[in-house]
Amino acid sequence: MSNIGSYEDKIKNFDWSISEKELNYQDGNIINIGWYCSDRICQMGKADKLALQWEGFGGVEKKYTFNDIRLAGNTIGTFLRNLGVKNEDRVCLFMDRIPELYLSFLGVLKIGAVVQPLFSAFGDESLHVRLENAQTRAIITQKKHLSKVRRILDKLPSLEHIIIVDHYTSKPLQDKEVSLNLEKEPPVEEFNIFPTKAESPSVLHYTSGTTGQPKGVKHVHYSLISQYLTTKWVLDLQDNDIYWCTADPGWVTGTSYGIIGPWSLGITQCVLNTGFSAEAWYKFIEKYRITVWYSAPTAIRSLMKAGQEPVRNFNLSSLRHLASVGEPLNAEAVIWSEKVFGIPFLDTYWQTETGSIMITNFPGMKVKPGSMGKSFPGIISTIVDAKTFKPYNEYGKIGLIAFKPGWPAMMRTYWNNDKMFQRKFKNGWYLAGDRASIDKEDYFWFIGRDDDVINTGGHLVSPFEVESALLEHEAVSESAVVAKPDEVNMEVVKAFITLKPGYEASDDLELKIMNFIRKKLSPLAMPQEIEYMDSLPKTRSGKIMRRILHAQEWGEEIGDTSTLEDEE
Ligand code: PRX
Repeated sequence: MSNIGSYEDKIKNFDWSISEKELNYQDGNIINIGWYCSDRICQMGKADKLALQWEGFGGVEKKYTFNDIRLAGNTIGTFLRNLGVKNEDRVCLFMDRIPELYLSFLGVLKIGAVVQPLFSAFGDESLHVRLENAQTRAIITQKKHLSKVRRILDKLPSLEHIIIVDHYTSKPLQDKEVSLNLEKEPPVEEFNIFPTKAESPSVLHYTSGTTGQPKGVKHVHYSLISQYLTTKWVLDLQDNDIYWCTADPGWVTGTSYGIIGPWSLGITQCVLNTGFSAEAWYKFIEKYRITVWYSAPTAIRSLMKAGQEPVRNFNLSSLRHLASVGEPLNAEAVIWSEKVFGIPFLDTYWQTETGSIMITNFPGMKVKPGSMGKSFPGIISTIVDAKTFKPYNEYGKIGLIAFKPGWPAMMRTYWNNDKMFQRKFKNGWYLAGDRASIDKEDYFWFIGRDDDVINTGGHLVSPFEVESALLEHEAVSESAVVAKPDEVNMEVVKAFITLKPGYEASDDLELKIMNFIRKKLSPLAMPQEIEYMDSLPKTRSGKIMRRILHAQEWGEEIGDTSTLEDEE
């Protein structure tokens, strides 16, 4: 049963001021997410409540109260200030899911600087492109990732400070490197939080598009108003809940709903920093008595693959609410979870750009397995025609998902690329870049993306980025990258290449090229298959036609290729 009342009640007379009031925020006030997630919770009498229960490899555990995270945020903020880092400087967090990642998030925001979280499995090139684009001033990282930063440092004149959180020896560090050992730093009680306002920048997440380099999605402190209320209503978090968001804060789910949402509500959350296995996950749920679990379809499909046997070995009776995001949640997964856990995974749809949940299965609402649900209260969403950008008046017609701009967590622009940001709006609508339809009861049904971006296990990969990286390999002459269907990850990366003279196609070369991409970009971007071609399909003007290769992979009709001329 949901604790928050019906969808129909919520949607009537909805106004974002509901959230503002609960957060005691008024227009023009100071609003700082770091303060809201820690100091305010302490002031509300929850200083000794657990904020974070963390577990790493080998069952190592750490626990932090709201007072601990408040102090740690102050300590990290002070450390950064002493280095000269100021408000609006970009500070990259490049760590595994260790406690310092979550604590630094608060520290950076508390000094009014901009958090740039990056997935720690990124290789040199992925890291370089994003740090260069953001002109990042400082990076907080671990020893294990330091070599990547060192290798690109010469190309990053703006990067002045490399802060290492686990440098426990006296081994000398190199130029620009400093050690921050949180356990040794004296806790900072008194701290002047930077007086950020609604429109002050807060978080900068990078996301992949079809063309060009990844784009920095600029969010502001006012996004809290959306994140707080969507967490409360959709994830249905109550004071005594124990919450687990499986997403990494390198991606937007891991910050909006893996830090900001739960902590602004004063909720205890758990983090597991180990690899995936069904047993490890169920054991974690049993051990911490997790009640609310936010995960992703790929993880759910992996659990389904592991079967029901492991489920029976654990007591998962604490679970009361499950939600999913990132990719289409197939009906089978919803039905399976209902059968196995006694409750369905509820699908939620949103994006890095939207900052918060937009379309969702609201708790208590009738679940239609395979549907993403309905618009969150206050969100005006529709399906528009792909040519006229006018909303359809008919149900069931497939078009583009579009939102009326104006909700608090909407991105404010793409970093240094306002032109690209403006292109996302047509006829007064923000276009999400996805295709869907709406049924008679206003439920949305996802069809697919409206571009070539690959969604692998809920992570977006740009074909352009992979194609460019492939061309840097000595053997590769031309490349085209498309999604290939995959049972668990929904899509994986597949590359088609032609070789330079003097190189022979072989399995060994395929492996070498795969590894080259894994190290340069990330394991996610690594092609799972490389097909050697004598030539790639091209338009008359020489542009590679990905769509033909895509259609081949998905067994779709290619159709009339003459109409594809030059449109790619
Ligand atoms: O294509 C949609 C897909 O993931 C995209 C957003 O990816 P990203 O910005 O990385 O954010 C992911 C987490 C919020 C969307 O444009 N997507 C997200 N949720 C769903 C989805 N596709 C189908 N069903 C969903 N529930």
